[in-house]
Amino acid sequence: MSGPHSYMLSNSTIFAMSKAAMEPKILVFLLLVSYSSVLFNLALCAQPYQGKWKLLKRSIGISAMHMALLPNERIVTFDRTDFGPSNITLPQGKCIKDLQSSDCFAHSVEFDPATRAVRPLTILSDTWCSSGALSQDGTLVQSGGYRLGEKVVRYFKPCMDCDWEEDKNGLLSPRWYASNQILPDGKIIVVGGRYQFTYEFIPKASSSDQRLYQLPFLKETRYSPLVPNNLYPFLHLSTDGNLFVFANDRGILLDYVNNKVIRTYPVMPGGFSHSYPSTGSSVLLPLKLLSTDNENNTSTQDAEVLICGGTPPDSNEKANIGIFVPASKSCGRLIITAASPQWEMEEMPINRVMGDMIMLPTGDVLIINGAAKGSAGWGVSRKPVLNPVLYRPADTPSSDKNTRFEVLSPSMIPRLYHSTAHLLSDGRVLVGGSNPNMNYNFSALYPTELSLEAFYPPYLSSTKPRPSILTVRPGLKLGYKEKVSLEFTVEGNVNQGDVYVTMVAPSFTTHSIAMNQRLLVLALDEGVKKTPSGNYLVEGNAPETAALAPPGFYQLFLVHEGIPSKGTWVHIKQ
Ligand SMILES: *[C@@H]1O[C@H](CO)[C@@H](O)[C@H](O)[C@H]1NC(C)=O
Ligand SMILES: *[C@@H]1O[C@H](CO)[C@@H](O)[C@H](O)[C@H]1NC(C)=O
Ligand SMILES: *[C@@H]1O[C@H](CO)[C@@H](O)[C@H](O)[C@H]1NC(C)=O
Ligand SMILES: *[C@@H]1O[C@H](CO)[C@@H](O)[C@H](O)[C@H]1NC(C)=O
Repeated sequence: MSGPHSYMLSNSTIFAMSKAAMEPKILVFLLLVSYSSVLFNLALCAQPYQGKWKLLKRSIGISAMHMALLPNERIVTFDRTDFGPSNITLPQGKCIKDLQSSDCFAHSVEFDPATRAVRPLTILSDTWCSSGALSQDGTLVQSGGYRLGEKVVRYFKPCMDCDWEEDKNGLLSPRWYASNQILPDGKIIVVGGRYQFTYEFIPKASSSDQRLYQLPFLKETRYSPLVPNNLYPFLHLSTDGNLFVFANDRGILLDYVNNKVIRTYPVMPGGFSHSYPSTGSSVLLPLKLLSTDNENNTSTQDAEVLICGGTPPDSNEKANIGIFVPASKSCGRLIITAASPQWEMEEMPINRVMGDMIMLPTGDVLIINGAAKGSAGWGVSRKPVLNPVLYRPADTPSSDKNTRFEVLSPSMIPRLYHSTAHLLSDGRVLVGGSNPNMNYNFSALYPTELSLEAFYPPYLSSTKPRPSILTVRPGLKLGYKEKVSLEFTVEGNVNQGDVYVTMVAPSFTTHSIAMNQRLLVLALDEGVKKTPSGNYLVEGNAPETAALAPPGFYQLFLVHEGIPSKGTWVHIKQ
């Protein structure tokens, strides 16, 4: 096997060599490890799996529990602050002191995927199991956490040497295991949390933001107070501006302004729970924007949701007494704008709890990380699923319904509870975290993972040429309904019928939810033109409304014959 796997192997051999001078026993052990990974690699080569892995960093000093990508291409990631030392200290001997203790370790870092540099950041209060969103101006807004951190809102600006800023009273209610979504007006809605059957808006600007809104659905969908199976609800902004909220096994459409449930969707079939700790994952499938020739057409565009994985409702209870039941294999698709929505059910090739679902620039969905047995929580999952699975939503299923799924090349690192994944602008997927232990524990059955890896989807090793975007007009700033033109190059001739442009909203990923993840396929004008300089030009339209594309930063990708270019940032504004 070529490329990243051999890189990984040689890296561990180098590691072995440098240690060898110090400790001969370790050398023997590490050479054995290397030898067994040679055998493992040979075994893998026999498999026809697509996609590759590369270890980017053995340790970033923290376990990447929460992750976001900023418009300056940096990844910001953080963990929790309530378990003592991490493996990276705060800069310049800084320590955070409170009445009982002094903590000189960083629990958040900035990572530069280009140079692999790590910069420690300072969080002052506990961010454990919290939520976030990249705001419309490109600032990362994080909300809630645990104990002293439960009502805090934290801001991180994408600039050199910036650090976290905290607003201690940013929230009205404690938010631990809540979910966020950006709204068409640029505000962020924060929904739920443990024992919280309400939602609220941040930042607090108008009087309507000073209110707490009741949402009994969050109590009604609870499996039990101890094993809720409905935390970290899945949120998707529908194309009509209302909010789809899914918890446990069912969804509603919420008019969050008037605090009214306007639709109740059928229960997802199969008898599984899909929310924490029965953690599945959910995406809004690509929104294919239509060019509206008729401005009087007020009918809304369809929106479809895909939810995959989860567990039987009692999986967490059973795992706590040592019985690890298989996770769910099922995926359900629901057109949430349909007149009478019905679930379309499919089966994944592998059972999965705690999978992350990441939208690739092509519009396909990568299902990655997690386990095949047990549940989310400390020490309660077994059988790590090392193979990602690709889901092609646009494929027409055959009679056995499995042609949409493809099993991809496995990682060597289990990524269980508290792991993350995020799309990078170059088309790779960054994967990190995994800490199913109460604290940092490097000798546990599934040790705390401080590493970061990149997964290279199959399009990055295709023999087809990769297109590249040369210019985007009007440029970084993009208005609604504005004409957009992209000049690009690609080796060889352009296949006219196979060019499209996607816009991806960067997510805030934690606990298998990529909050605010959204992929739009732009409406293009007919035909790709050749420019005088021999490049290609494609023209189309920016999204029509903020319900289709809330204001903020997006990565623009040009896809030719299934191969995406690198992404270019655009900033869509009212
Ligand atoms: C983290 O630090 C501990 C204590 O110094 C050390 O034993 C452990 O190997 C380190 N882990 C990693 C992954 O660097
Ligand atoms: C939309 O409706 C208005 C008012 O009825 C009409 O004047 C206009 O021509 C219509 N536009 C189109 C594109 O049909
Ligand atoms: C109106 O728009 C919807 C969705 O945007 C589209 O499906 C429909 O064909 C359009 N109708 C007309 C009359 O243009
Ligand atoms: C690490 O995990 C193992 C296995 O669960 C446990 O026996 C050990 O006490 C843990 N160590 C620490 C430091 O928590």
